[in-house]
Amino acid sequence: MFSEFAGQEKVCQRLGVMVEAARQRGDVLDHILLSGPPGLGKTTLAYILANAMGGNIKSTSGPTVEKAGDLAGLLTTLERGDLLFIDEIHRLQPAIEEYLYPAMEDFKLDIIIDQGPNARSVRLNLPKFTLVGATTRAGMISSPLRSRFGMNCRLDYYTAEELQKILLRSAGLIGLHTDSAGALEIAARSRGTPRVANNLLRWVRDYAQVNADGVVSQEVADAALSMLEIDQDGFDEMDKRILEALIHRFEGGPVGLNSLAVAIGEEAGTIEDVNEPYLIMQGYLKRTPQGRVALAPAYRKLGVVEPQRDGRLF
Ligand SMILES: Nc1ncnc2c1ncn2[C@@H]1O[C@H](COP(=O)(O)OP(=O)(O)OP(=O)(O)O)[C@@H](O)[C@H]1O
Ligand SMILES: [Mg+2]
Repeated sequence: MFSEFAGQEKVCQRLGVMVEAARQRGDVLDHILLSGPPGLGKTTLAYILANAMGGNIKSTSGPTVEKAGDLAGLLTTLERGDLLFIDEIHRLQPAIEEYLYPAMEDFKLDIIIDQGPNARSVRLNLPKFTLVGATTRAGMISSPLRSRFGMNCRLDYYTAEELQKILLRSAGLIGLHTDSAGALEIAARSRGTPRVANNLLRWVRDYAQVNADGVVSQEVADAALSMLEIDQDGFDEMDKRILEALIHRFEGGPVGLNSLAVAIGEEAGTIEDVNEPYLIMQGYLKRTPQGRVALAPAYRKLGVVEPQRDGRLF
């Protein structure tokens, strides 16, 4: 079932057990929360789960559900065993979230009909369905919502070897000849993220087609990525700007996220969701209650001597 999906072994094993057990009992999967940085495969996993259970999948996202009625519209079209996928579930409005609780817990929905003095609430029974929620911000999910998921899965960044496997498969799908060293070169510069890896692969294909008879070797991959100014560590322009601002303009921090965002002209949310998780995971910076602080590898990366912080603790 997960054969096309490389990596995330523990998550895949757990989900595999849930699917197998539900199928044996002729039951419906419990609700599942998938969290982790963008592009690691949350949406892909939701589709794999729907496929494995043989149900339909309906998909929406937190910010697009504006009224309780939008959600009711979706829920009432579900059939038993269907999967409702809510992307960016941390962005559901609190009122709508509360509306979701009885639907998740008891498969019941209270809808208000009529208006004014005649308004009354009617309780609808829903078929048993599976809610799969995805979020890039696990910390922003309210605890009542989190506790209503039977399974909580965190996706992690992929190793270069896992990404190499994904790349070789993607290359095969688009009929691109890539040797294993070429795939590993792209993998190592993909920030642990399959979406980044696949995007880079498409660029390398264009480059190879124009410059190198269409074959992707390590040299070709290196030249193509260097032309995009993606360095050996997979840093792009924005990552470098974050470290430069942190070290050169804010003396290595601590600096608040908003000041950092203004200094480099990027949205605070984008920095926090897209760039920072990888920089933190790789040990370039850390979040403290006082703000962001540059760590030793960040100074090394920019070739700057780290100042002594006599006794100050972060
Ligand atoms: N484990 C994997 N094996 C193969 N391909 C993968 C894997 N994970 C992700 N991909 C590919 O990477 C791309 C991004 O995956 P996906 O859209 O599922 O990420 P996401 O976690 O939902 O991201 P976002 O948070 O931005 O919605 C897709 O093209 C998908 O096919
Ligand atoms: Mg997604």
